[in-house]
Amino acid sequence: MKISPMIRNNICLNAHPVGCARDVEEQMRRVLDKVGGSVRAGVSASAPTKAPHHVLVIGCSSGYGLASRIVAAFGYGASTLGISFEREPSATKTGSPGWYANRAFDRLAAERGLVAKSHSMDAFSREAKALAIGEAKAGGYAYDLVIYSLASPVRVDPETGTMYRSVIKPIGRSFSGTTADPFTGKLSQASVEPASDQEVADTVKVMGGQDWELWIDALAETSVLAPGALSAAYSYIGPPLSHPIYKDGTIGKAKEDLERAARSLNARHAVSGLGAFVSINKAVVTRSSAVIPIIPLYVSVLFKVMKEDGGHEDCLDQMARLFSDRLYASAGRPVPVDGEGRIRLDELEMRDSVQNKVLELMGKIDQETLPKLADLEGFKADFLRVHGFGIPGVDYEADVDPLA
Ligand SMILES: NC(=O)c1ccc[n+]([C@@H]2O[C@H](COP(=O)([O-])OP(=O)(O)OC[C@H]3O[C@@H](n4cnc5c(N)ncnc54)[C@H](O)[C@@H]3O)[C@@H](O)[C@H]2O)c1
Repeated sequence: MKISPMIRNNICLNAHPVGCARDVEEQMRRVLDKVGGSVRAGVSASAPTKAPHHVLVIGCSSGYGLASRIVAAFGYGASTLGISFEREPSATKTGSPGWYANRAFDRLAAERGLVAKSHSMDAFSREAKALAIGEAKAGGYAYDLVIYSLASPVRVDPETGTMYRSVIKPIGRSFSGTTADPFTGKLSQASVEPASDQEVADTVKVMGGQDWELWIDALAETSVLAPGALSAAYSYIGPPLSHPIYKDGTIGKAKEDLERAARSLNARHAVSGLGAFVSINKAVVTRSSAVIPIIPLYVSVLFKVMKEDGGHEDCLDQMARLFSDRLYASAGRPVPVDGEGRIRLDELEMRDSVQNKVLELMGKIDQETLPKLADLEGFKADFLRVHGFGIPGVDYEADVDPLA
């Protein structure tokens, strides 16, 4: 069948098998092009032992998790075990983009002699942890890097079987702001009522640090966490204009809990030398970020400003920097962090020059000026790409079997 994007309310309901595979391949090529350059430099030149060897990526199939895995494997030659929750395809319906991305990743890694396995499982479950432990034991290795990159609307607590839902809401007062639909090019006002205490607690349960702790503790208890292992979980802070809906809202509370978990993990596993970090990443277009109110407009204006000043980065650029300039920057030196112990990859986004310009443009935006002042086309292109659409060289008129 011919597969075209089916988009409703900034959610794309399908994916293009060939396009998703091509996207992974292009990301791999970008990393391979850098090998011998910035990604590999810290490893091969000054610090040969400072590199990931056995990497577990939780949330491996898209966005920041996929980019992390691509950098670890193709930039550093690491073996990778990836866990993500995917929708399988049927004869009439495509799978989720991650289903195709995982398959492409495993194939591309195997072609280069790299060990890579992807499993579609609920990462919150005990079974997923048991599987990752079993894989390490069977392979005779221990994980020296664990990437935690989940973005999920729900979590079933493995202890109780209770399902919790995360919400993106302000706390204490309602929020309204201008938002843009990148697909219709229309501006609108988004209003969100404040979360109840229960919704705050539930969002922390889903997107906070508890599951990350369960993962690291389980790996350590079963001796499949290497001494001196590193772990990174991802977060966002963003500018004051987004704080009511993000940093000071339900998701911000969950991210605070992630920072609590990092401190707690580092204290608990100090003897084995674990380094658990929250990495504050830049705003990018992913399946998850597209559904946060006002974020599409902010990101579109941000892209306009950062593309013009040459500082624009996508997931892969960010993760290449995470590995080469932070986690594996140089042997014997601590990972560079801010005053709160967090890795900062958002420093380019948060520069005064960028934020002042973004604010100035946001103040001038109306329906007429929108196409000129915001990079809606860039947002749209990135969003489509995440689902395997709009990728040069892919024949979108061709018949494709979702199962092939
Ligand atoms: N997108 C941004 O702008 C941005 C910025 C900074 C930080 N972050 C953070 O980065 C992390 C990853 O977000 P993203 O934007 O890359 O999201 P994404 O939607 O692209 O990826 C989420 C991943 O989680 C997996 N997943 C979801 N539920 C799962 C489950 N139950 N079991 C197993 N896998 C599951 C998905 O399959 C996917 O691989 C999040 O913590 C997010 O807050 C995102």
